[in-house]
Amino acid sequence: MKINNPLRISIFLSTVITLLLILMILFFQDFRFIQNDPTNILFLVFFFFFIMVCTYMVTKKFFHEKIKVIYKNIYKFKGTSRLDKLNDLDIDHVQKEAEDWANAKQNELEQMKQDENYRRDFIGNVSHELKTPIFNIQGYVETLLDGGLDDDEINVKYLKRANKSIERMINIVEDLEVISHLETEQSELEIENVIIEDVVNEVFDLLEMKANNSKISLQLINEASAVSVRADKNKLQQVFINLIHNSIKYGKKNGKTRVSFFDMGPNILIEIADNGIGIDEDSLPRLFERFYRVDKNRSREIGGTGLGLSIVKHILEAHNQTINVRSTKNVGSTFSFILEKGE
Ligand SMILES: Nc1ncnc2c1ncn2[C@@H]1O[C@H](COP(=O)(O)OP(=O)(O)OP(=O)(O)O)[C@@H](O)[C@H]1O
Ligand SMILES: [Mg+2]
Repeated sequence: MKINNPLRISIFLSTVITLLLILMILFFQDFRFIQNDPTNILFLVFFFFFIMVCTYMVTKKFFHEKIKVIYKNIYKFKGTSRLDKLNDLDIDHVQKEAEDWANAKQNELEQMKQDENYRRDFIGNVSHELKTPIFNIQGYVETLLDGGLDDDEINVKYLKRANKSIERMINIVEDLEVISHLETEQSELEIENVIIEDVVNEVFDLLEMKANNSKISLQLINEASAVSVRADKNKLQQVFINLIHNSIKYGKKNGKTRVSFFDMGPNILIEIADNGIGIDEDSLPRLFERFYRVDKNRSREIGGTGLGLSIVKHILEAHNQTINVRSTKNVGSTFSFILEKGE
């Protein structure tokens, strides 16, 4: 039995003290003390309970005074009050609660440090990404102001290039806005039954020119029994646009992109596979971070900001799903996720 609450402490102390008293009596008198007068036994019993009550009162008061302070501090942070339950508390319980609280605070602190680093990186990344198009625009405008405007060879060309840089900035800002909306849960999902083949075919039409330019064929294979999934149609379309666009951008000439659906119990497994340049193993864990690009120069050249996969991840998380990737360098990549079948 653990001596860990006021009652147990008082029983333990009163037993020890009463035993000591008996030993002292035996030492100074003799066994006749008990044998001669039975009221002496009554005295011992009374003594036992007297000590017990006294120690109980003292330890309980001590417990309450000390523990109350600890508890008030802990529950001030937790935002609840359990002071009413103090009566049946033991010290082990308090210790456990304090440990849980300390662990929770430790985790919170680590999360805050992580967020702080993330924020710092994020601001650095945003300014870095915006700097390039801004300086480009500045260069073109300055050249035009310095006389280039009258030079028919460059005026329209530079204006078009400046316009391209502006488009790039708009893309970055729009992508950031989408992520920020998804993160702050400002955008409510409009979940409905979505005919998944239709969504993919629409995206194929949208990206047909890009695929043709790279001589990449787009294929759809439906091995699932259901025709629809539960999803937000526009957001699901965005997921397919980002993934299929990537498979074209990072595909090889004459390659192919295959979108497949498979049955998985109440869900449909969706795979977007390509036989493109692939991704090295070290990059896979960071792939869905904002602004992460395996080959920054190549991606930037083809107009990528590294936000596409981050948006895909956020949209699927909003659907309570996750995105997975398998990839082998120079062989190809497969992105997959599941969605609940439609009703
Ligand atoms: N199918 C793929 N094959 C090979 N690499 C890929 C593929 N998809 C993504 N990647 C790599 O992952 C990186 C991040 O992709 P993500 O879509 O987030 O950004 P992006 O395509 O560079 O820019 P954005 O999509 O914002 O225009 C890419 O830069 C590329 O290096
Ligand atoms: Mg992309």
